[in-house]
Amino acid sequence: MSTPHIAANPGDIAQTVLLPGDPLRAKVVAETFLENPVCFNTIRNMFGYTGTYNGKKVSVMGTGMGMASIGIYTHELIHFYDVRNLIRIGSCGAITPEVKIGDIIMAQGASTDSNYAYQYELQGSFAAIASFDLLRRAVLSAEAHGFPFDVGNVFSTDIFYKEKPLWKDWAQMGCLGVEMETFALYCNAARASYASGNGGVGHEVKALGIFTVSDSLVTGEATSAEERQNNFINMMEVALDVAAQL
Ligand code: HPA
Repeated sequence: MSTPHIAANPGDIAQTVLLPGDPLRAKVVAETFLENPVCFNTIRNMFGYTGTYNGKKVSVMGTGMGMASIGIYTHELIHFYDVRNLIRIGSCGAITPEVKIGDIIMAQGASTDSNYAYQYELQGSFAAIASFDLLRRAVLSAEAHGFPFDVGNVFSTDIFYKEKPLWKDWAQMGCLGVEMETFALYCNAARASYASGNGGVGHEVKALGIFTVSDSLVTGEATSAEERQNNFINMMEVALDVAAQL
């Protein structure tokens, strides 16, 4: 079986998928953290792997950058491969001074400048939220490890290179960080969970975005490659702790 973007058979992909933006990151995660990883997708070099972690079947697949891209991959994972838990493992930029480089941010909600939710024809704006179950597990894991983290809203933007510093307005609404995917991920999970027509899958689909803060739009700082790697490992431990419980 193959969808337009994923060439895997049913059963090749676990019910829990970790989702970095970068497909090469997916390869490294699979080879570093999973036992017996098997590659299930190479279409467009959007690598996906399935292996086990503490005996639990877990997959990891790249999403590409932006809501258009993560929207495609997560739709296919949910609707064609029966994926039920989607955990984005990404990076974000800090937009408030309280958020420090290297911190972990967990997206309780995702706000956006995207029109991704127009497709649902809602007469208003949708509050895209994380699965409380996944979020709670991630918080407990980070606390147990003693990793610094923040929980709150993130700003999912369509535009990396903006002419005006529009992130400041989102910071004034309490958004902690800026990234480019989570709003679409949360929309896809909500729609699949709750739509009564063919948009729904008839059961709950859980989603969570976890990020390491890679740069600060407030201070202009960015992480070194080495810092990024260490901080990334903390986030991975949290994501894998959660995946192993599902
Ligand atoms: N902007 C958008 N997405 C990001 C950033 C940023 O500064 N940093 C990491 N992901």
